[in-house]
Amino acid sequence: MRKKSASASQRKKLEQAAATVMKNAHAPYSNFHVGAAILLTNGQIFAGCNVENASYGLTNCAERTAIFSAVAALGPEIEVRAVAVTNDHGVACSPCGACRQVIYEFGPDAVVFFRSTSGPKQAHITELLPEGFRLK
Ligand code: THU
Repeated sequence: MRKKSASASQRKKLEQAAATVMKNAHAPYSNFHVGAAILLTNGQIFAGCNVENASYGLTNCAERTAIFSAVAALGPEIEVRAVAVTNDHGVACSPCGACRQVIYEFGPDAVVFFRSTSGPKQAHITELLPEGFRLK
């Protein structure tokens, strides 16, 4: 059975953390600043922004920055319960395919809060990434 993902106040805290960290984005090429915050099952929140590079393909999305920061701080046993994503254009922005796979790695039961084309939305990671890849 799926656990309860995040309370309304936790969701708000996540969205605020995402909006704050978005200001640190390095996005001179796209001019599209993104912030993401993750809630771990231990209650901790980590945040990340997109970090672009002149060699465009090296860009790291906000979601992966947040997850990699949590792993760097706490190790690989973390479990992501919820993810919130925000951007400075107020437009639809769901996690890209690569980020969905990374969210799935550390949060196979995670819920994702993002802006869809029809407004704010929440979706389970397996709705966003059916049949995500696992080695074990
Ligand atoms: N980006 C993110 O950081 N997260 C998303 O969910 C979508 C896209 C970034 C990557 C790049 O720096 C910029 O947004 C434009 O694609």
